[in-house]
Amino acid sequence: MDLIPAPSSAGFPDAQGLSLGPRTTMDGGPGTGAAVQWLRTVLGAATGLPLAPAPSPDIELRLDAALGPEEYRITVADGRALLTAGGAGGAGWAAQTLRQLLGPEAYRGAPLRRTGWSLPACTIADAPRFGWRGVLLDVSRHFLPKAGLLRYVDLLAAHKLNVLHLHLTDDQGWRFEVRRYPRLTATGGWRERSMVGFRAANRRDDRPHGGFYTQDDLRELVAYAAERGITVVPEIDLPGHMQAAIAAYPELGNTDVVDTAALGVWTDWGVSPNVLNVSDATLAFFEGVLEELLEVFPSEFVHFGGDECPKDQWRASPAAQARMRELGLADEDALQSWFIGHFDRWLAARGRRLIGWDEILEGGLAPGAAVSSWRGYAGGVAAARAGHDVVMCPEQHVYLDHRQADGEDEPIPVGFVRSLEDVYRFEPVPPSLDPVSARHVIGTQANLWSEFADDARDLDFRAFPRLAAFAEVAWSALPADPAARDWPGFERRMRTHYARLDALGVEYRPPGGPHPWQRRPGVLGRPAAGPPPAV
Ligand code: ACM
Repeated sequence: MDLIPAPSSAGFPDAQGLSLGPRTTMDGGPGTGAAVQWLRTVLGAATGLPLAPAPSPDIELRLDAALGPEEYRITVADGRALLTAGGAGGAGWAAQTLRQLLGPEAYRGAPLRRTGWSLPACTIADAPRFGWRGVLLDVSRHFLPKAGLLRYVDLLAAHKLNVLHLHLTDDQGWRFEVRRYPRLTATGGWRERSMVGFRAANRRDDRPHGGFYTQDDLRELVAYAAERGITVVPEIDLPGHMQAAIAAYPELGNTDVVDTAALGVWTDWGVSPNVLNVSDATLAFFEGVLEELLEVFPSEFVHFGGDECPKDQWRASPAAQARMRELGLADEDALQSWFIGHFDRWLAARGRRLIGWDEILEGGLAPGAAVSSWRGYAGGVAAARAGHDVVMCPEQHVYLDHRQADGEDEPIPVGFVRSLEDVYRFEPVPPSLDPVSARHVIGTQANLWSEFADDARDLDFRAFPRLAAFAEVAWSALPADPAARDWPGFERRMRTHYARLDALGVEYRPPGGPHPWQRRPGVLGRPAAGPPPAV
């Protein structure tokens, strides 16, 4: 049935399945309500069938305490379908698989036909390899309107991905409403123009760009995601990548080094030199931001960025240097560690956990911190060996803003070529990691940076079809040796999956290359030469 991601096991006996019609019933036991409601909504739309509740339903969902929380089983035989799961999460994934079993038309929003819907006789047992199967959406560089964000939650759920890492702030835009600091969005939420393509071209459009989510928008997102088994992990990226916040509140910057009152929201791509100062007032400001953030996002993890913080302003700043002396810190890396460590403790005191990019290892990792390993595997390996949890998202492999093929047709080509097959052969746990440390790799994540994806259509192009391969890497128990993976088999299953994506209206990159309207002729990229370095 071309399931993607592939289940742990699936058998399709040549037996009677279940034909769906106007009298087909569906219901579920305690703990399966969200999955039943979701199935009734999406299958009701696609098939036009009511799938009404009944005491002894044809399609039944049930929890079974013997299964893991995200684990599920499906049996379709003799005119009945039984879905069992260890928890609400597993029931949701079972429901997603059931939709795949009905064929690509089950992904449409209204019925093209009212007859012929059937589930094949089958026995499926399934559970995820990793608990963190993440996707980062960079809504700072280019804002994704709320409707687009909710649509991405549905797309993630369709692929059994369960973490949406939301990059809410950066030099180029602040997207999270903070009620006590309204200028963060009023001033920091838009920029006058944007760089077009890579910076060497020094080209800009003449169009203001912006937008932000209200706290109610984000509460809606969190609830919508939770109903689909997805946790939203918010990121406030500090102490670097903060120019938008400094443009809004100049006192947050290194005022003894630069005239921060003259700064605007950044209109370039890259790494801004304008970083936070390290005063008590700045710590208190961000505690205020966090108090509001924690009210909106119930996730265990809160992402604190920590990447690419240039230390030049701290080196030049008498105030930063005095802070280092007062704290007895050896260098500016230690100053950043102290800064992150402050929020590690602050979050821990509130029952949450800090996660940051692998630069937070430099100068000493905060005791409770987990690491998003992006500059390669090395940071994640070091953190895991030191007993810290790790999400593997090396840029050489799973940065989906990177180009999908060689050649002039790829729009604004950046980074290494990462084809669908390359992503399918990505292995999150490097063989160098001993089994005990490997258990600290809690998952993997694909990152969709948006400097060069300026709208939802372009985001689709970069995300798909590769997110389907990534989903299988994160969910399915594929052979650890990438060379041993059944790529031809995956490619074969993708034929059906493309039809599902078509039904969903996903504007993926076609296997033969971009459509003419998906190209960006003449816009400068920055392709990296050769294959990425070996693990
Ligand atoms: C990153 O790509 N700077 C995390």
